Amino acid sequence: MSIPALTHFVDIQSLSKEQFWGLLELAKELKDERRRLGQNAPILAGKSLALLFQKASLRTRVSFEMGMVQLGGYAFFLSPQEIGLGKRESVADVARVLSGYCDGIMARVFDHAHIIELAEWGSVPVINGLSDYSHPCQALTDIFTIWEAIGDPAGKTLAYVGDGSNNVATSLITAAEKVDMAVRVVSPPGYQPDPAWLAEVDADVTVTDDLDGVAGVDALYTDVWTSMGQEAETEARLAVFPPYQINEALVERTGNAEVKVLHCLPAHRGEEITDAVADSESSLLFPQAHNRLHAQKALLAHLLGGIPLEIHGD
Ligand code: CP
Ligand code: NVA
Repeated sequence: MSIPALTHFVDIQSLSKEQFWGLLELAKELKDERRRLGQNAPILAGKSLALLFQKASLRTRVSFEMGMVQLGGYAFFLSPQEIGLGKRESVADVARVLSGYCDGIMARVFDHAHIIELAEWGSVPVINGLSDYSHPCQALTDIFTIWEAIGDPAGKTLAYVGDGSNNVATSLITAAEKVDMAVRVVSPPGYQPDPAWLAEVDADVTVTDDLDGVAGVDALYTDVWTSMGQEAETEARLAVFPPYQINEALVERTGNAEVKVLHCLPAHRGEEITDAVADSESSLLFPQAHNRLHAQKALLAHLLGGIPLEIHGD
């Protein structure tokens, strides 16, 4: 089945279900290839990727850099001080300059509009490596990890517990819709997804502040209570979120002995998740972190290497 190619990877909403599954299958293929042969074919030989960061990162930076290396290409890191995106130089000029030097731009920004502007002005693929609004690379990885751990996500249910209005929740909800997985957002009032936005997404999502929302789910997911850029709200958030901690009692409350637990990391252990759960048999935290590499290699292979998206259904 031939699937229309992507130009950028700015958000999951704009992908079709086929494109999303095509990326998942390509990620699996590349992961299997490396496991089988100890390396990937150098499909990105001679290609380079700019890694532009306005915020801190471990996983995103290293997995993109290693992903390029493993596919035969090259990546270079640009710190906030170096670029001054929108301050030292306009976003449009940065996009046009970088497009003449390299074959792709991965950017982590505060303002989501900056990602959109990079994509509008850049003549090479732009990948959203997290904005205040969304984190699509993470969500692609999360669904890949769930698929690997518990099989086809269709018909399964995930409970997102914590700040249901943040970038990770936003992307996860849209990604779940692509694979027909239901989401229950269990969040305190004031930190739930915007109802108008939810109506637009048209996903199978229920929103509640009641912790019983986790009953019967296949997977639990959480993220930090205070995201990067929200540090001034830390105290107010710490006053609201503690009941929404993923701890052994909450895992028990799912009533599912096989339930899997996910977290995009970095974790504030002892806040949104306890050590006992993060390091338990149910935890997918580290496979999930490692899968960033494989999921993003699929993006790179497709966007920079022209590898087509295909669905084999196996
Ligand atoms: N999950 C994630 O994006 O991690 P980093 O912030 O370390 O890149
Ligand atoms: N919601 C978190 C995710 C970090 C990967 C943040 O934006 O800080």
